[in-house]
Amino acid sequence: MKARENFGSKFGAILAAAGSAVGLGNVWRFPIETGQNGGGAYIIIYILCIILLGYPVMMSEFIIGRKSRSSTAGAFKVLAPGTQWKWVGRLGVLTAFIILSYYAVVAGWTMEYIFLTLTDQFSGKSVADYGPMFNDFVESPWKSAMWTVVVFIVTMYVISRGVKDGIEKYAKILMPMLFILTLVLVGCAVNLPGASEGLEFLFNPDFSKINASVVMNALGQAFYSLSLGMGALITYASYFGTETRLRKTAVNVCAIDTFVALLAGCIVFPAMFNAGYSIKPDDIGPSLIFVTLPNVFQQSFSGMPILGYIFSVMFYLLLLVAAVTSMISLHEVVTAYLCEEWGMPRKKASVLVTTFAALLGVVCALSFGVLSDVRILDKTFFDLFDSVSSNYLLPVGGLLTTIFIGWYVDKKVIVDEVTNENKLRHASVRIIRVLIRYVAPIAITLIFLSQLGVI
Ligand code: TRP
Repeated sequence: MKARENFGSKFGAILAAAGSAVGLGNVWRFPIETGQNGGGAYIIIYILCIILLGYPVMMSEFIIGRKSRSSTAGAFKVLAPGTQWKWVGRLGVLTAFIILSYYAVVAGWTMEYIFLTLTDQFSGKSVADYGPMFNDFVESPWKSAMWTVVVFIVTMYVISRGVKDGIEKYAKILMPMLFILTLVLVGCAVNLPGASEGLEFLFNPDFSKINASVVMNALGQAFYSLSLGMGALITYASYFGTETRLRKTAVNVCAIDTFVALLAGCIVFPAMFNAGYSIKPDDIGPSLIFVTLPNVFQQSFSGMPILGYIFSVMFYLLLLVAAVTSMISLHEVVTAYLCEEWGMPRKKASVLVTTFAALLGVVCALSFGVLSDVRILDKTFFDLFDSVSSNYLLPVGGLLTTIFIGWYVDKKVIVDEVTNENKLRHASVRIIRVLIRYVAPIAITLIFLSQLGVI
């Protein structure tokens, strides 16, 4: 058997997993969801979901991945041969495919914005111009479809470089850069006039907005942002070395991911309030950061346009990178499925996945323009894929994963993996097991049932 590639170091493993987690979900999706669902109160629910539900699901995926040394599709077969658990792996593959296709559309938008900033097309524009600029772009018949395809080609290139020299290497350089740039932008955004109203909206909880579907939404967003519920982290954990500490890695990834999301909120909301109430998440949906952020760059650096130019180009560039590192983790799940289950050569599999996901991605891209009248359940393709995957498929995947590890797999597997075969402390194993066995599955089920109106 060919030796499986591993990440080169423990730190590399953390950064690679963080690279999967930190992506458009943090910078693009989180502010929209927070804006539409009540600001500060949503954030509190979101953080509770991360700690009580996200963390145990992440631990479950880590345990499954490292124990089975197999990607999602095969992992359930290795740990539960001859059973129907394999369907959980297959559900993950389907989910990955759906997310991959529409995620690439937004990643493509960042490419257009790299182009727009490089060619300095924001200078001299005012707040009111950014919305129409964005709309013209997404409604133009082929532009965003073209970028979607370009993004897929970039992703395929990185994927072809493998685990250590591709995924890990890029994560090590680019994640710290993304982080520093985010901090710079926070500094700019909180100094805009009107910023304090934005921060107040973000951090002042108003619990009257909270209902079952908001909690469900926060749960879906938590899973989405942490890359949980479809086995991306099972696949990554299968590349973890035996020295990697699962608990520490999970705590780090959860913390980094949440921190970046909150920082993104500290950029977008001050910018939004600065731009006046004409720009609201409810009205503009997916375009939020593409409309608010150009304003931050223009306004903060009006005295020194060259800085505005440099930061805006860098920002969209790094956003693209963050998106691509996440796309890799989605792509890898589907590609590995075709290789392992269908015996396809890796290259052929990755070309096939890219082709079909790109085709679906083009449909999603066009659903902002020429296909905007095609509705399923009153949603465009893009909105349908986004809400079905995060509100249903990921929570169901996460639920089944915790049941699998908590109830089906032998307790010894959990203890061994969490403590690296008894080399690490046992103290928190019991708490983690309670979270995996009881808290996560029960809470996810209850949130589901109450959203469906059953309870
Ligand atoms: N977590 C990524 C983000 O925040 C998106 C992502 C990558 C993802 N892999 C995933 C979401 C797996 C769900 C499942 O942008």
